[in-house]
Amino acid sequence: MPVTLVGRTRERAELAAAWAATAGGATGPQVAVLTGDPGTGKSALVATALAALDPAPVTVLHGQARIHSPAPYDWLAAVLSGRDTRGLPAPAPALAWLAQHDAAPVERFAPGALLRVASRVVRALAGSGPAVLLVEDLHALDPASLNLVGDLAAAPGLPALLLVTSRPSADPLVARTLARLTGTPGRFASTSGRSGPPTSPRCWPRSTRGARSPPGRRRRCGTAPPATPTG
Ligand SMILES: Nc1ncnc2c1ncn2[C@@H]1O[C@H](COP(=O)(O)OP(=O)(O)OP(=O)(O)O)[C@@H](O)[C@H]1O
Ligand SMILES: [Mg+2]
Repeated sequence: MPVTLVGRTRERAELAAAWAATAGGATGPQVAVLTGDPGTGKSALVATALAALDPAPVTVLHGQARIHSPAPYDWLAAVLSGRDTRGLPAPAPALAWLAQHDAAPVERFAPGALLRVASRVVRALAGSGPAVLLVEDLHALDPASLNLVGDLAAAPGLPALLLVTSRPSADPLVARTLARLTGTPGRFASTSGRSGPPTSPRCWPRSTRGARSPPGRRRRCGTAPPATPTG
């Protein structure tokens, strides 16, 4: 049950607009990234926005890093947890590996091959959409998940809103992924502090019609101070 959110009108409107584009048949995924310090309300905003999506999403794939040192593809493993994976377009051993089944084969897979399988599985789960792919706490995800999320943001024709929350992070892989998602290298890292209720996460909705949309099409929302270039 989402909390009664104080403020955040603008961010919610931005998220609703991103969803409207997704539900309206935008040709690729819409991407919205919320960054902010711990406790600044990223998850609360996401929960409230999700509950208000109109039309309701046909599918919500929700994952986050589940353990302290997440295993490869932990985001997808969280998504697959408890799901019937039969019929998914993936070889059984790869699927068992991605889902972190106890009986997963010890066989090793080429990283590129696994990434392709993982993307295909997400696409199959999203179906014809509209879907929400919710990535909570990106800063804590493993490198393979970061790679997958970056790829999904640019997946042609994926009928989904990719909704990402993250704390600021000095980890270069996380920073690169956030830059990939926002499409503006080095411009995402400014985050709100905790002073003044309620503090503001940054919200970066991005249209991804085509993986390389021109800079002018990206919009930034939120009330945090201007971003500080970091790279
Ligand atoms: N705008 C708001 N209105 C009402 N409650 C809020 C608001 N923002 C945050 N909160 C409350 O503050 C607490 C922390 O918020 P939340 O868990 O969403 O933060 P977060 O940014 O996701 O933190 P973390 O980085 O630890 O995941 C929660 O109890 C949440 O309900
Ligand atoms: Mg949170």
